[in-house]
Amino acid sequence: MSKLSHAQWSSKMAFILAATGSAVGLGNIWRFSYMVGDSGGAAFVLVYLACVALVGLPILVAEWLIGRRGQENPINSMLDLARQSGRLPAWALVGASGVLAAFLILSFYSVIGGWSLSYTLGSVTGQFTGQDADGIGALFSGLLANPTALTLWHTAFMALVIFIVARGVTKGLEGAVRTLMPALVILMVILVIYGMTTGHFGEAMAFMFSPDWSAINGEVVLAAMGQAFFTLSLGMGIMMAYGSYLGQDVSLIGTARTVIIFDTVIALLAGMAIFPIVFANGLSPGEGPGLIFVTLPLAFGNMTGGTILGLMFFLLLTFAALTSAISLLEPTVELLEERTPLSRVAATLVAGVAVWVLGIAALMSFNVWSELSIAGLNIFDFLDTLTSKFMLPLTGLGAILFVAWRLDRDGVLGELGLTGAQAQLWQVVARVVAPIGVIAVFVYGLI
Ligand code: PHE
Repeated sequence: MSKLSHAQWSSKMAFILAATGSAVGLGNIWRFSYMVGDSGGAAFVLVYLACVALVGLPILVAEWLIGRRGQENPINSMLDLARQSGRLPAWALVGASGVLAAFLILSFYSVIGGWSLSYTLGSVTGQFTGQDADGIGALFSGLLANPTALTLWHTAFMALVIFIVARGVTKGLEGAVRTLMPALVILMVILVIYGMTTGHFGEAMAFMFSPDWSAINGEVVLAAMGQAFFTLSLGMGIMMAYGSYLGQDVSLIGTARTVIIFDTVIALLAGMAIFPIVFANGLSPGEGPGLIFVTLPLAFGNMTGGTILGLMFFLLLTFAALTSAISLLEPTVELLEERTPLSRVAATLVAGVAVWVLGIAALMSFNVWSELSIAGLNIFDFLDTLTSKFMLPLTGLGAILFVAWRLDRDGVLGELGLTGAQAQLWQVVARVVAPIGVIAVFVYGLI
């Protein structure tokens, strides 16, 4: 291999790691499993897989392409590309709504990151050892009912995020992602094997993979689409920003496939680890956002070596959450840095503290403000629903429409390395299938 191609490989690797670090996070383990549980299992899983392949992949490619061509932050990249191709500057709104969505998501993401931190400590102190489902459930409700504890953990998590982003440390993180992500996969596999010993693995597999088609309705499809966007970090300019660091030699479609497969495998493994425990202990799959916190500690508390495995798991989960959270804060920081006189450190503090305050409002939904509702949802659910079901899909729709309909067709096909039948397939998927998919889900979900 020549020096040149080696250098290319390593930059491509670094990019895959950064993109994977953003994509793989709480969304794969915490959010995916509770969404599957809430939405009735296999029907959700299948619609989700279809959304990832038919909508997620083309939009991921579109976001990277915009970033690579624009070479700037999402708003400016969209603005420049729109100008260059003689389109309306209003396309920049696609970038702007992405930045806002990232800001809103981080507020509740950090609350869950805090739970993960708290469970890391809980594993060290042996809180889960020998507990039954009631004991583990009580620990979790105890945490939720305690706004002070929730605030402390949320603060600790946000402090870590602010610290890392302020220092602009991304180099070290790449190395860490490279070793910690495979470790996370190995632990998930161990948990799946534990699931097989519970005697309820078959039931869990049927729940996840044998669909009851009648369970599919607008709500389920909207939720599955939202999950696909959330888990792939789409619709918030993050992948656009990452694309701006991308060399011309990298194959966008091939790389997107790699990242998506990795992301999806982790989510499916999480489900296969969690649902056997749910059924073995008579828990409800529709437990809500607490699902992994009332199931996995049961496994750790009752298996050999569980204390150390539990510690490793929650540490890795926290780490995966951090690498995603960093990517969520970055767009706001970048914007403040470029549009205001603030330094990087000051911009990070301002953005971070604003997110932190909103996060406090989100965590109050689990206790003192549980009665408070916006559009029938508590603050936490409202933030999650507004972003994942509405803002992300609409922003992603903007990105794919722009690339498929507004940029020069031949240039885009050349950049993607597509010719002949493959080029036609891309045209159909990017111009019609993906946009109509997003729009149809909306219309279907709203009526
Ligand atoms: N994709 C991340 C996850 O699945 C969350 C995330 C969403 C990160 C949006 C960045 C942007 O946990």
